[in-house]
Amino acid sequence: SRSINLAVIPGDGIGQEVVSEGLKILSAVLPQDVKLETKEYDFGARRYHATGETLTDADLDALKRHDAILLGAIGDPSVPSGVLERGFLLKLRFAFDHHVNLRPSKLLPGVATPLAGQPQIDFVVVREGTEGPYTGNGGTIRKGTEHEVATEVSVNTAYGVERVVRDAFARAQARPRKKLTLVHKNNVLAFAGHLWTNVFNKVAQEFPEVTTDYIHVDAATIYLVTDPGRFDVIVTDNLFGDIITDLAAAVSGGIGVAASGNINPSGAFPSMFEPVHGSAPDIAGQGKADPTATVLSVALLLRHLGYAGEADRIEAAVAADLTERASLGARSTAQIGDALAARVAG
Ligand code: IPM
Ligand code: MN
Repeated sequence: SRSINLAVIPGDGIGQEVVSEGLKILSAVLPQDVKLETKEYDFGARRYHATGETLTDADLDALKRHDAILLGAIGDPSVPSGVLERGFLLKLRFAFDHHVNLRPSKLLPGVATPLAGQPQIDFVVVREGTEGPYTGNGGTIRKGTEHEVATEVSVNTAYGVERVVRDAFARAQARPRKKLTLVHKNNVLAFAGHLWTNVFNKVAQEFPEVTTDYIHVDAATIYLVTDPGRFDVIVTDNLFGDIITDLAAAVSGGIGVAASGNINPSGAFPSMFEPVHGSAPDIAGQGKADPTATVLSVALLLRHLGYAGEADRIEAAVAADLTERASLGARSTAQIGDALAARVAG
């Protein structure tokens, strides 16, 4: 019989609240014969203050044994900036080789966008997740002086670029419009730009049905605002992907509905699914957080594990809920979760 052995990391701030709702919907959508086992981990600010640790080798060994990871949010004002980001989130993404950072953007009916009109937005960003300037490859000399020099080296390997580009082509191939856009800055970042462009053009030959396109990252920010409908699948490096996916979330309903997956397609390590939003300490514990982004992340998780029908049902439930939202007035985190659970069960 089928089973899902899930690691659950509620984390900090609103993480706990939104993850509870995500699990509620997960239990409601799974058929009887699928055994769901969950184990909760206490990573985040509390663990850091108690032990000084963010993520140990023993933690990684424990997490490795799960089929997937559901993460709420990590981060708290009581922890110096960067400690949990690098010591937990990036460490985990790198340790488990989460090289496909998948961030879909779909503007659903009834959802407000700051863009004029009601543009069609339905694209997915495949952000490289293990290379680029995120590798910590850099240094400082004459630190603190007027002559300080800081370097931050963007690492791009043929292996790393090719595997994420190939994944993006496969995703484009599977979508109705079959279009893939490479976003980079190859007019200025000549070395990495050459590698990305070259690999992109080479892999394109394996996917003759996919229409390809190249846009500089600065121009891409314009199109994301003026003509987001032109995008179907975007592939880009770690830092450009970080920046444009925040913009993508802002134009397609905001971070309340933006989901993401940190995926290792080989299955060698569990993939991790998380809302794009942070821990929002200002509204934590008040039942005000929107669990929708976490619920949509659960849909990505299920799709990754091969439960496409269940993922479809969650996405349909969210779409239906969002359509009615305007007429419903304010609801708590748990009320939204209950409504979604009822829809996926019924
Ligand atoms: C994200 C976040 C992280 C990133 C930070 C918290 C390290 O902004 O998931 O997009 O830059 O990847
Ligand atoms: Mn980000």
